Amino acid sequence: MEIFHIGAECYPVAKVGGLADVIGALPKYQSSTENQVRVVIPCYQTVFRLENDFECVHWGKLKLGNFNFPFSVLKEISNKLGFELYLVEIPELFDRPNIYNYRDDIERFLSFQIATLDWITGRSSIPDIIHCHDHHTALIPFMNKYCPKYEKLREIPTLITIHNGLYQGIFSFNKLYYLPEFDLIHVKELEWGNCINSLAAAIKCADEVTTVSPSYLNEINNSNNGLETLFQQFRHKSRGILNGIDIDVWDSNKDPMIENNYSIETIADGKQKNKEYLCSLFNLDASKPLFCFIGRLYYEKGADLLPEVVLSALTTYKEEINILILGHGDVELENQLSHLLSEFSGNYNVYIGYNEELAHKTYAGSDFILIPSRVEPCGLNQMYAMRYGTIPIVRRTGGLKDTVVDFEDNGNGICHDNASVEDICDSIQRAIDLYKNKEIIDQIRIKGMNTNHSWETVSQEYIELYNLIITKRYES
Ligand code: GLC
Repeated sequence: MEIFHIGAECYPVAKVGGLADVIGALPKYQSSTENQVRVVIPCYQTVFRLENDFECVHWGKLKLGNFNFPFSVLKEISNKLGFELYLVEIPELFDRPNIYNYRDDIERFLSFQIATLDWITGRSSIPDIIHCHDHHTALIPFMNKYCPKYEKLREIPTLITIHNGLYQGIFSFNKLYYLPEFDLIHVKELEWGNCINSLAAAIKCADEVTTVSPSYLNEINNSNNGLETLFQQFRHKSRGILNGIDIDVWDSNKDPMIENNYSIETIADGKQKNKEYLCSLFNLDASKPLFCFIGRLYYEKGADLLPEVVLSALTTYKEEINILILGHGDVELENQLSHLLSEFSGNYNVYIGYNEELAHKTYAGSDFILIPSRVEPCGLNQMYAMRYGTIPIVRRTGGLKDTVVDFEDNGNGICHDNASVEDICDSIQRAIDLYKNKEIIDQIRIKGMNTNHSWETVSQEYIELYNLIITKRYES
């Protein structure tokens, strides 16, 4: 089967969040002698692009309304990621240092989708399935279905995976002319809330819709992302498939980014050594439990609660714990977190930024990881943490709910229900008590390390789904 994954990020080529980890790992696990897997993302100005060799396999000119943009498709020569990687180079729109947050993001990602379809249409073979990820590629199912220009692709089933339903790629009908020509009778397929809504269009037009965890699928049918009724209407073609993790990259026994490799057998010693190293980097005390937070500093991640949590926990348990925060995002929050440094130096530190290597070191060296998300479609941090014997403290939501069970219910972590400072501090208190009981804490760590969240089985679930939608297409 020939599978195309199309998205905005792919680790290690270009990463902002978990989307990159999924697009960098799932295709690798799907690749086999039977499955040729190709990943297509835009060509940003990233280190990976500069340090690797590419060949140009296509060039053309894409039309976005009245604009014409030259583009080329670059293939990474060695297939070093375990699949074929293609970068769509549209210099005017993507030759920039960041992935998102430009004023012309709508133009950028729409151009990317048009260029990708132009290229795929012109190839000699056509794929068996097109798997789109998030709103940046969510107009592909519509264009595939209704734009005569892509007639050749019409029979190819499309799948949309929703990694984050809060971002929907919404724009005004003033920009309708950006889309390649189609019969206006179909315009309603693009509309939601009087705007063009890319994600809504994909929910309507794709053959199947997946979310990255079963609980998140239930939540988006009910919670306020504005698309609830649409999700309900298309529930029959939706399913939640829990993400996996790349167990080759996330392996405490082999990870080249951490100071001391360790396995279940050597966890006590291994973890302590990594913790000592991490604490030395951040002026913390390795004899105390270390709580970390790793992620983007946004409201949906519950990061707005962190300054108060740090203040409250370190005032109450000053001599008992360390807290380390790695992240960036909301500038106001970054400032608040940095501000606390002077007050709690020695017990607290914060690293503003994104640093993959430091994240690995932090998973390895921490005892507990705080994941207080308000919304968490899947969440990979809890899975990475467990793999490194770090106990997750999570709010029961989305994928966190599907992967972490409270230790008092014979589980692998600590859970609370509300996105509130009180609930998080309550969990911290329980963690401090747990930390004193070496036997139980070791059991929980080992349980986490033994949990199998590999893509191996999950990637097959997607292959089965592709087969199912291909069969359905033939039948109809
Ligand atoms: C998004 C979601 C996160 C999920 C990731 C990968 O970043 O917010 O919950 O784990 O995508 O699917």
